[in-house]
Amino acid sequence: MISQHLSSSFTSITCNFIGIDSSMKELFTFYSNFKDNGCMIGICGMGGSGKTTLARVFYEKFHSYFEGSSFIANVREYSEKFDLLQLQQLLLANILEEKDADIRNVYHGVNMIKKRLCQKKVLIVLDDVNKLDQLENLAGEHGWFGLGSLIIITTRDKHLLDHHGVHKIYKPNPLNSDDTLKLFCLKAFKKEQPNEGYMQLSQDVVCYANGYPLALITFGSFLLGRTMDTWKSALDIFKKFPKKEIFDTLKVSYDGLEDMWKEIFLDVACFFRGKMKDQVIEILETCGFDAKIGIQVLMDKSLLTIENDTLQMHDLLQEMGKEIVRQESREEPGKRSRLWLRKDLFHVLMNKTASKTIQAIVLDRPGGDEAYQHIESYSEVFSKMCNLRLLIIDNVHILKGLNHLSNKLRLLDWHGYSSKCLPSRFQSKELVELKLQFSKIEYLWRGVKYLDKLKLINLGHSLNLIRTPDFTGFPRLETLCLRGCINLVEIDRSIGGLSKLTVLNLEFCRSLTNLPSSMDGLSFLICRGCEKEIFKSTLDSVHHEFENSAVVKATKIMGTYDDSNMAEHSASWSFPGETERDLDSLAVA
Ligand SMILES: Nc1ncnc2c1ncn2[C@@H]1O[C@H](COP(=O)(O)OP(=O)(O)O)[C@@H](O)[C@H]1O
Ligand SMILES: [Mg+2]
Repeated sequence: MISQHLSSSFTSITCNFIGIDSSMKELFTFYSNFKDNGCMIGICGMGGSGKTTLARVFYEKFHSYFEGSSFIANVREYSEKFDLLQLQQLLLANILEEKDADIRNVYHGVNMIKKRLCQKKVLIVLDDVNKLDQLENLAGEHGWFGLGSLIIITTRDKHLLDHHGVHKIYKPNPLNSDDTLKLFCLKAFKKEQPNEGYMQLSQDVVCYANGYPLALITFGSFLLGRTMDTWKSALDIFKKFPKKEIFDTLKVSYDGLEDMWKEIFLDVACFFRGKMKDQVIEILETCGFDAKIGIQVLMDKSLLTIENDTLQMHDLLQEMGKEIVRQESREEPGKRSRLWLRKDLFHVLMNKTASKTIQAIVLDRPGGDEAYQHIESYSEVFSKMCNLRLLIIDNVHILKGLNHLSNKLRLLDWHGYSSKCLPSRFQSKELVELKLQFSKIEYLWRGVKYLDKLKLINLGHSLNLIRTPDFTGFPRLETLCLRGCINLVEIDRSIGGLSKLTVLNLEFCRSLTNLPSSMDGLSFLICRGCEKEIFKSTLDSVHHEFENSAVVKATKIMGTYDDSNMAEHSASWSFPGETERDLDSLAVA
């Protein structure tokens, strides 16, 4: 039955892809010979050769013929960040269509997979595998699964497949010369044939792509709308790389970008692949980049895609971005523009090798219990990073407090900041967001600081916070979150002068004893779990002044002071068109 389907409507799903039908048929034929048992096929080849695409198209086409299926994308990247146990959970959840299985550890996970799937005919794709333990813990043998199951593994490492003992190792065929030209032209000319006069140039360029789809697509997008001179100089550059290393050839597209788009590309490659597009745009705009345009430009150049509202980038392009940053200084992370690995950050902090080259530090996963006592005594650690614009870190403890932080910072997000205040000299005129959730902050600083651009302060869950700063110097402040600051007694009266403040979250500020009586412009006041009395005058005046505005709605709905009412009221908390969660994220930002 599957074979009939294969031949009848085969091209419908593959029409966006060029030359893929023959590979699909080959894979399918191989599976047919095995299907009475169970079959493992490896797809192996260089990055950008079309492995994931082939596996994805095959999966889309055939998964409904199996009793359960799971496509696990980016295994390599995922397992660098998380535990394999989570991938086991995902696999089981996809196939059994259940919520996350309760798996205690990876050994238990293996047993669960065997036990629950041994009778099921499943289709599993493990995409971009790079370590044996990923295979051993997700699909150790075909015998783990029911008869007729098919496991497809894509990887760049043939040894891995040999070692794992797959039934067949398949190499995607490089596209033939007609298909190569066609794919290139679709990007470079938006049609299947070159423009007049460009045939020879196109053929010359295509020859450097070695039949690899990724290179063809990025070359084509790079050359779209360019003059003949640019084409010729691109060819000259390609000729410099006789070995045709894909990294070097892809880098031509990057080199052709304007400076600001290069910075955005590197930020995405190092920090933001897979993150929500809108959040990243906000962060990049905070850094002073024209992020919306930049992301569109990178998409037009095929250096970036958007999938389910997240930013995606081919893994090879991401690697190229990281490599460009590494090449800024091969041996010393402190001389690179971006740091994304915890180990590199700690190297820089402990060896005091920071420099003014460092622009951005964003750690790519939450830190665990790693102990880094050495830096705890050294308070000058950030003093040399005078050009730091973006700092998003967590669990970095500097026991004696900091003496210095860059005055170029635009976004400071330090979860669990462990000192009692910020450095007294810190005065970043560019700062837009200040987030120190779960910190040990007692107060931010003494006196008044002028931070003209500051829009958001989040000190949520900072249990030691006793008082807020004077707000006079932050005329643009829009959001203030003090949620869960249970020892906060006082909010500085200057808050009343913040004309742009729209969101004030005081949830569970149980010790709070005052609140200014007038707060013009406030749209959301969240005061669940606070003492009722202190809001009396504020709420009354707010009601009084804004009888018909959203403020009344906001305070009425969110002004549930009493914990005991919480559960009862929570159901009715959503505004029309807004869920409680939206409101929550809005308020906590
Ligand atoms: N047959 C094809 N036709 C058109 N585009 C393709 C084809 N194969 C791959 N691509 C495109 O080439 C790029 C790289 O392919 P991918 O499957 O991600 O490579 P790999 O997994 O080997 O690194 C992707 O953008 C993909 O959409
Ligand atoms: Mg891939």
